[in-house]
Amino acid sequence: MRRSQANAQNRSNAEAVGSHDRNGFDIAVALFTAVRQVSDEVLHAHESKVGEISGILGAALGLNAEEVTALIQAASLHDIGKFAIPAKILGKNGPLTPEEIHEIQRHPVNGAQILINAGYGPDDAAVQAAHYHHEKFDGSGYPEGLSGTDIPLAARITAVADVYDALRALRPYKEPISHQTALKIILEGDGRTRPEHFDPDILAALLAQQALVQAVWEAPATATSRLSRRPN
Ligand SMILES: [Fe+2]
Repeated sequence: MRRSQANAQNRSNAEAVGSHDRNGFDIAVALFTAVRQVSDEVLHAHESKVGEISGILGAALGLNAEEVTALIQAASLHDIGKFAIPAKILGKNGPLTPEEIHEIQRHPVNGAQILINAGYGPDDAAVQAAHYHHEKFDGSGYPEGLSGTDIPLAARITAVADVYDALRALRPYKEPISHQTALKIILEGDGRTRPEHFDPDILAALLAQQALVQAVWEAPATATSRLSRRPN
């Protein structure tokens, strides 16, 4: 963990997580949040949890308070591109066709474009998290096939939080699993997820902060997230 913190601290200065002071940023985040709340309860709860967990990981990696705040906001917007995917595909209870998989895999690029259209810069953490959160550390991800630290830090952190939340959550197509099982799958792999997919420093941060991550994820649900945990 100490190694992770030191590494992240060194990286922190050279690798912006997207702190900025653009006018209207908070308003934009509030608007996106409001839209999510009325348009897709499951997606809203998912993105909120990913934001909170990303913040924990970012802080453990040595990011400063401003960077952590930017990271939480960025990670909370990472799946914004799913608004461009038909609900019948996102909520499908059964195997997806190749065309449907292709449609879903467009959401990182769509999300980045939505955020850029809303006024974010291409180097802002929000755009980076949206565009690159399905990239994998070993280069096997999408949409660009980036690897290692070529993947922006905000996206590498969001990717770990995203998989943790996805494993734990009840979805139309899967049962929820326990914290310990989710942790074991991320750290050891299960055939679909492999440790090589993730930045090892971020996996170390997850392990070090696992109790806090579990507590935050399992915190009493708000009215919105309580609703979201019902199966579709
Ligand atoms: Fe995604």
